[in-house]
Amino acid sequence: MSFKSLLRLCEKSLKIRGSIFLGFILGCMFTYIILPHDLSKVSQYSVLKNTDVAVNAGRKLSQANIVSSETESGNNTKNVPLVIQQQQQQQIQQSRLHQPHNVLPPRVAPSRLSNQQKLSSVPKYTFREFKDRVKVNSTLRDRVFSQEYLLPETTAVLRRYLLDEPYTFKYDDALKANLQQNFDINTDVIVFLHIQKTGGMHFNDRINRELQVPFRCKRRVTAPKSPGNCLNPSNNMWFYNTAYSGWQCGLHADWTQMHKCIPGLMDKIEQKQRPRRYFYFTQIRDAMERYLSEYHHQTAHNHWQQALLGCETLKNANDIDVIPCFRTRNWIGVSLEQFIACKNNLATQRMTRMLADLTLAGCYKNFTDVDAIKMRAPIWLESAKRNLQSMEFIALMEDEPASDALFNKTYKLAFKRRVITPAKKPGPGGDTMKISEEHFIRILQLAELDIHLYLFTKDLFYDRLKHIQDA
Ligand SMILES: *[C@@H]1O[C@H](CO)[C@@H](O)[C@H](O)[C@H]1NC(C)=O
Ligand SMILES: *[C@@H]1O[C@H](CO)[C@@H](O)[C@H](O)[C@H]1NC(C)=O
Ligand SMILES: *[C@@H]1O[C@H](CO)[C@@H](O)[C@H](O)[C@H]1NC(C)=O
Ligand SMILES: *[C@@H]1O[C@H](CO)[C@@H](O)[C@H](O)[C@H]1NC(C)=O
Repeated sequence: MSFKSLLRLCEKSLKIRGSIFLGFILGCMFTYIILPHDLSKVSQYSVLKNTDVAVNAGRKLSQANIVSSETESGNNTKNVPLVIQQQQQQQIQQSRLHQPHNVLPPRVAPSRLSNQQKLSSVPKYTFREFKDRVKVNSTLRDRVFSQEYLLPETTAVLRRYLLDEPYTFKYDDALKANLQQNFDINTDVIVFLHIQKTGGMHFNDRINRELQVPFRCKRRVTAPKSPGNCLNPSNNMWFYNTAYSGWQCGLHADWTQMHKCIPGLMDKIEQKQRPRRYFYFTQIRDAMERYLSEYHHQTAHNHWQQALLGCETLKNANDIDVIPCFRTRNWIGVSLEQFIACKNNLATQRMTRMLADLTLAGCYKNFTDVDAIKMRAPIWLESAKRNLQSMEFIALMEDEPASDALFNKTYKLAFKRRVITPAKKPGPGGDTMKISEEHFIRILQLAELDIHLYLFTKDLFYDRLKHIQDA
């Protein structure tokens, strides 16, 4: 990555959107001033080649309605939830800035890898290329299957994931029978649980531009800089998502936090109490590609430091339980080796953690303790599976048309035209990044539960699709 290509990117962006000239001047200045000293370290993953960065920045400037944290960084009040604002600000400042020295996370030290580490972490293949190699190379295959995993079933699940061998998950018919029917836009509420790097920003973008809402949204603004929640003609909130609501339950709030936050928030927004049915949904993505995409995102843009990890209460998990991986303002320049090595990394088993009821397994206590991780693993996975089965709608990032069909069926809402917002190809990073064999093996472990969950969801998704097609 040279300055020339950066310059070209900026110029291209300027041509595309003349009206947001000023925004890009600022953006380009940022690129020149902030990025250069770290560029050498990230360039091998062709971070800025991807024009999504520029395109998304452009959208943000030209469309005030869209709120996305994904490419934003730094001080952003939008990301702080309404319900927890004041108490959090104080708490975060106290815990982050005045931590005792013995719990401070390491500073980024990209060059301090041993020679052996450097050698073993030479990037070789993309994840998909590794998948193909596992099929034909028995040495590599033996290596993959002789690793230690958290769950005994993982070997069989990986044989399906990597070798396309059959594996069937168990589903709970009772949960299926309990699914809520007949979504009513006048009284019910859709809640979008947006997990990082699963294509949720694109989904929000489409909700904002393309969703055919049968009435004009009444916008009620309840948080500073929030875009305004969309109320229906009965003054009821019917859809909580980033496009409409910002991050009022916290930046990328998870299942546990949302279930604590949403009811109170709805009362506040609607200024009344009433019984409500919630129709949660989430979007799932291939586990390995999501992990790599998160590495790319966190080390190129923003590491979501403001995300709250509420559990038993809406208060943030103590920094002593989940120490931030790196003490720097952003994580630009962090190598994959360092990212993987961070024991507190929230990218690890992220989809499973964010969909599980964390109160079932001690919340964030003993977060990095090996025994606690083993104890939690089956509880998290089981809970995440149950919660997914209890969602009336699930989207699969790799299959937008089928996701649209299920969305339409569940909520009786349609997008104006099929996919006019250009579908982002999976990535950047997730599908194109080359990784070493060491990292491939390590990430299989760090995404182990998510691989279970991904395949589990895929089967559930296509079963539901088949069901509506047969009907
Ligand atoms: C963040 O915002 C707060 C309140 O608006 C302000 O006091 C603080 O200086 C800001 N910090 C940075 C790093 O911009
Ligand atoms: C098979 O994989 C092993 C270890 O991963 C590697 O050293 C070897 O070169 C590979 N063999 C072939 C034929 O690619
Ligand atoms: C955390 O670890 C300690 C010490 O091993 C143990 O006593 C405690 O029960 C653990 N807490 C949870 C919630 O797992
Ligand atoms: C979505 O649902 C509406 C109403 O149920 C229907 O009229 C429309 O054709 C559907 N659109 C698609 C793309 O399936």
